[in-house]
Amino acid sequence: MRKPIIAGNWKMNNTAQQGVTLVKELKPLVSNAACEVVVCVPAIDIPAVAEALKGSNIALGAQNVHFAEKGAYTGEISAEMLKDYGVKYVIIGHSERRQYFGETDETVNLRTHAALNAGLIPILCIGETLAERETGKTEEVLDRQIEQGMKGIDDISKIVIAYEPVWAIGTGKTATAQQANETIGYIRKKVAQTFCPKCAEKVRIQYGGSMNAGNCKQLMAMEEIDGGLIGGASLKSADFSAIVHYDAQGLKLDKDLL
Ligand code: 13P
Repeated sequence: MRKPIIAGNWKMNNTAQQGVTLVKELKPLVSNAACEVVVCVPAIDIPAVAEALKGSNIALGAQNVHFAEKGAYTGEISAEMLKDYGVKYVIIGHSERRQYFGETDETVNLRTHAALNAGLIPILCIGETLAERETGKTEEVLDRQIEQGMKGIDDISKIVIAYEPVWAIGTGKTATAQQANETIGYIRKKVAQTFCPKCAEKVRIQYGGSMNAGNCKQLMAMEEIDGGLIGGASLKSADFSAIVHYDAQGLKLDKDLL
C-alpha cells in the first residue's frame, strides 16, 4: 500500500510571518489527516515555519537544493543546511525551474543524488508541455526525464515523483482524471522497466496542475495517483485542508472530469 501524500508548493509566496500564520491555521485543520501532509516553502521561510510546525503532523519541504555539499556557490543552499532545520522533502526539477532557471535533466539528477545522500526525500517533477503533448511526444519526454533525471538512483521507491503536465500548471486547466491516471500508469511502467518492478509498485507518484477542492476527490480515486502537488490552492488553509481531506469532498460534476 502506498500512503497518499498531499504537498503544498507555495512557490514564491508568503513572507516568513505570513507562512507562520498559514501553518498555524492549517495545523488543527489537518491534524487528523489520513494522508501525509507536506508544505514546501520558500527557503527564507524555513526557520520560522519549522518552528511553527513543531509537534504537528505536517512535514516541511523546500523548493530546491544545490547539488554540491558546500563551497563557492553564491546564493545557493545545500542539502545539509536544509536538514539542519528539519526539512524532510525537497522539490527538484519543477517545470518553472526548468523553464526560467536553466534546470536540465542532468542538474535534476545531481540535485536528486545530493538530496538522497543527505537523507532528504526528493519530490522529483516531470511532465510535458502542451506543444509536446499535442505533437505526440509525451512518452518520449517522460522517458528522457526518467532515464536521465533519475539515473543511478539505487532505490527509486525512496523518492516521490510528481507528474505535472506543464499546460495544467496555474492555468485552471486540470488534466482529466483519466488522462492523469493513464500518464502516471505509463510513468510507473517506465520506472519498472528502468529500475525494478517491485520499486515501481512502491514509488509514490503525485499529480500536480490546478488541483483543487472540486477535483481532488476524482483525481485521488484513480488507482495510479498517490497524491497531489498543489500550487495556488495550497496558499489558503481552508482550500489546502479540503484537498488533504479529499475523501470528504463532493464529486465535481464537471464533464471534463467524468
Ligand atoms: P497550481 O496548483 O497552481 O496549478 O500549481 C501546480 C504546481 O506547479 C505545483 O508544483
